[in-house]
Amino acid sequence: MHIWEEEKQCYIKAAMERNSLEENALLKKRLDQIDWTVFDHMKRKETVNERGVFAPLAAVEIGEIRAREEEFRKIGLKTIREGKVGAVLLAGGQGTRLGLDKPKGTLNIGVNRELYLFEQLLRNLMDVTEEAGVSIPLYIMTSNINGQDTMDFLEKHAYFGYSKEYIKFFVQEMEPACDYEGRVYMESNTEPVMSPNGNGGWFGSMVNAGLLADIRARGIEWINVFAVDNCLQRIADPLFVGATIAYGCESGAKVVKKAAPDERIGVLCKENGKPSIVEYYEMTEEMATARKENGELSYSFGVILNYLFSEKKLEEIANAKMPIHVVEKQIPYIDLEGNERKPEKPNGYKFETLVLDMVHMMENCLPYEVERDREFAPIKNLHGVDSLDTARELLQKCGVKL
Ligand code: UTP
Repeated sequence: MHIWEEEKQCYIKAAMERNSLEENALLKKRLDQIDWTVFDHMKRKETVNERGVFAPLAAVEIGEIRAREEEFRKIGLKTIREGKVGAVLLAGGQGTRLGLDKPKGTLNIGVNRELYLFEQLLRNLMDVTEEAGVSIPLYIMTSNINGQDTMDFLEKHAYFGYSKEYIKFFVQEMEPACDYEGRVYMESNTEPVMSPNGNGGWFGSMVNAGLLADIRARGIEWINVFAVDNCLQRIADPLFVGATIAYGCESGAKVVKKAAPDERIGVLCKENGKPSIVEYYEMTEEMATARKENGELSYSFGVILNYLFSEKKLEEIANAKMPIHVVEKQIPYIDLEGNERKPEKPNGYKFETLVLDMVHMMENCLPYEVERDREFAPIKNLHGVDSLDTARELLQKCGVKL
C-alpha cells in the first residue's frame, strides 16, 4: 500500500470526499508521481544523530590571515581572474520565520531608501569583480514556489548592475510535508503540500538542470556556496579562496568565533578524522565547555553557511546519499473542512538535506575565521536574534547607508 492510501491520511481523504471525479483522477495521478521514501525517516526524526568520535579542528585565525594577507590575496585573485571561481546563491528556502510571501532576497532592508537583500548581496560580489576586473558566474538556486518571482524581480531591477550573462537560475527539488503524525498536508484539492527539499541538494539540482556543461565550459574549479540571508557576507572572497588553496584543502568554511559556549551555532570540527559540523544541540556539556591550554574553547568556530568546494570533488560526490533531516516548520494547509490554514507556529515536518553535511564528505576543510561584526548578519526573523533589526544595525556599523 502507498503511504497516501493509509487509513490515517485524513487530509487526502477529506479532499477526495470533496472532489469531483475529474479532480480525484488528477489528485491520484499526482500522488502516484511522488517519491514517498522520505517518510521512512519519520520513525527516526534525525537520521544524523548517530555520530562518530569528535575532535577539535584548528582554524586559520584572523591574526594569521592578516599576516599572510598579500599571499592569500594574490593566489585568490589569480584564480578568480583565470575564471576558475563560481558562486552559488542558495535562495530556494521559504523564509517562514520571516513571514514573507515572496522571495527572501526581495526584502527591503533599507530604512530611508530602498535597498533589497538581493541588491546588497550583488553589491558585495561586485566589490570582488571590480577588484579582480572580471565577472564571476553566479548560479541562483530557487524553488518552484519562488523561482518565477525571483527571476522577475532581478530582471525588473536589471540585476542591480551585474552582468546578466553571468547569472543563471536553477530550481531545486521538492518533498511532501506532513503533520506530526505523518499525515500528508494538502495545498489544494488536487495537490499535496510540497516544499523545497533543503539546501543540501544544490549540486545535484545543478546537474539535473544541465548546468554541469556550463561549469565545465567555463573552467570553474572552485564553487563558493552561500545563503541568501547573510547580508554582510563576502562572496568569492579572494582571501578565502587563496587561503584554501594555499593550505592545499579541497574545501573551506567561513567561521566565526563562538560568543559563548552555549551559542546556538554549528561548530566545525573533526568526526572520525574527517571534517564535520556538530550542531549545538548535539554537543555534550563537556564538549561545549572544553578549553585549550590558552583558555580558549576547543570547539570554538561556528559555521555561517559560506563554503568553498573543489568542483572536481563535488562531481565525485554528486550521487552520494545525504542524510535527511526531519525539521519542524510552519506549514500552511487545507483543513478537513476545506478551509485554508496559516499556522503561526510549527505544525509539522518538512524533509531536508543540508549543505553542512557535504563538509563531512570532504577529505579536509579549512575553517577560515572572519570578523563576526563585518561578515555575519543573517536575517532569519523580523525582530530579535538574527533579525532584520540586528542586520540593519550591523550594516550601518559597517558603513552601509540605509
Ligand atoms: P534556512 O535554513 O534559514 O531556511 O535557509 P529558510 O527556508 O530560508 O527559512 P525558514 O527556516 O523557513 O525561516 C538557509 C539558506 O538555505 C536556503 C535558504 O534560502 C537560505 O539561503 N535554502 C533553504 C534553500 O535554498 N533551499 C531550501 O530548501 C532550504
